[in-house]
Amino acid sequence: MEQSLTGAMDPEEFRRVGKQVVDWIADYLKDPSKYPVLSRVKPGDIRKQLPGAPPTSPEPMMTLLGDFERIILPGITHWNHPGFFAYFAISGSAPGILGEMLAAALNVNGMLWRTSPAATELEEVVLDWLRQMLGLPADFKGVITDTASVSSLVALTAAREALHRRIRENGLAGRTDLPRLRMYCSEHTHSSIEKAAIVLGIGQNGVRKIQSDDGYRMRADLLGNAIREDRANGWFPFCVVATVGTTSTTSIDPVRALSDICRRERLWLHVDGAYGGVAAIVPELRSVLDGCELADSIVVNPHKWLFTPIDCSCLYTRQVDTLTQAFSLVPEYLRTADRDVTNYMDWGVQLGRRFRSLKLWFVIRSFGVDGLISRIREHCRLAADFASWVDDEPAFERLAPVPFSVVCFRFHPSDVQDEKALERMNSQLLDAVNSTGEVFLSHTKLNGRYTMRMAIGNLATRPQHVMRAWELIRAHARRIHAG
Ligand SMILES: Cc1ncc(COP(=O)(O)O)c(C=O)c1O
Repeated sequence: MEQSLTGAMDPEEFRRVGKQVVDWIADYLKDPSKYPVLSRVKPGDIRKQLPGAPPTSPEPMMTLLGDFERIILPGITHWNHPGFFAYFAISGSAPGILGEMLAAALNVNGMLWRTSPAATELEEVVLDWLRQMLGLPADFKGVITDTASVSSLVALTAAREALHRRIRENGLAGRTDLPRLRMYCSEHTHSSIEKAAIVLGIGQNGVRKIQSDDGYRMRADLLGNAIREDRANGWFPFCVVATVGTTSTTSIDPVRALSDICRRERLWLHVDGAYGGVAAIVPELRSVLDGCELADSIVVNPHKWLFTPIDCSCLYTRQVDTLTQAFSLVPEYLRTADRDVTNYMDWGVQLGRRFRSLKLWFVIRSFGVDGLISRIREHCRLAADFASWVDDEPAFERLAPVPFSVVCFRFHPSDVQDEKALERMNSQLLDAVNSTGEVFLSHTKLNGRYTMRMAIGNLATRPQHVMRAWELIRAHARRIHAG
């Protein structure tokens, strides 16, 4: 049988099935709410329907698509559902999906400029567009990674390299010439920062978590004290991580005050704006990045709140030389004579790189900056409405300020004061509303209090979905309270 570039599939069959798949996607995106938002399968339900061994002979595409609908779809939690209010409610978009399809079709590896000049140059241009949208200065240069976890790992590796202590060459273990490194973040910082410390050999004990104020923001005064104390005790402070939009409450650390400390103490300042950073494209929210122009690095995730299909995380730094010094390692087989080009393999851990800028380019051009601004603004407006309903309902309590589009709250009837009982009630309430299939919320704990989170960020979410969530929450709360 003649081999073709399209592998097992003949190009005409690809055209036919491809159109069917696009039709399926279009129908799906038209109304994802026909599915329960939270998958109802039990652990193992999907696995037991799948053969344990691969097929030895080819299977028709129609059989595969049939199995996709029959077996896989019931095991999907629908992030596209307008009632998805859990974690950070992220949303892809049709232009982003089309960009992703084309990137898959081209299948380029953007490790070097020459392995696809357009992949590298589009990445540079799109990152610069986004930088301008965010209001960051022109000396911030960017690279796209898969996730904020990896972006932060890359940034913190550069922070470590900035010490010029030959850690890249000699590592950290067994060094008698180097005190133990210390980095600082708040107790509300995302776990990815601690994971980066694990990977970088700093260790979890090398991460000092600074207490937050009552708005869940890192206390700059305590940071200053901690650094002084650590230096006196023989630690080697090297880096501070501030967050714009913490994971539990979306609080914003006082970046400007932290940057003053970093400048004075000569520490690297990394800002994790994975969720909240993109909101700076909205003129009235521009100030959320106040002080970030002084940071050494910052990460924002278009796959969280800029309608770009997962994965797409943008890392910016003003210290490109330090970053590439940390990572550039060019074996003979990757050497090129190209001059004045960016080889993105020098900007991080991975060699092979997906063409992620294509989908971001499609998203920014297809929505237009104004279109993106209006979506984020609307999500914040819906969250403000929801927060006001919580505030107006005596049996409910709001547990954090709402700087973006996430509301932290709990059911707190006046006759229940015991924390354990409140936790039981609220976790029961969460399970009850989530089992309706209409909405999906998640939870966190704030100062030991079980907290429900209503996160609004989905393109399909309309006022009626937010109202419906509130209706369900109140109805189930009444029922649970009545016993
Ligand atoms: C503030 C913050 N930083 C980092 C992350 C990790 O993001 P990613 O999944 O892109 O690694 C999250 C995830 O929600 C987050 O909320």
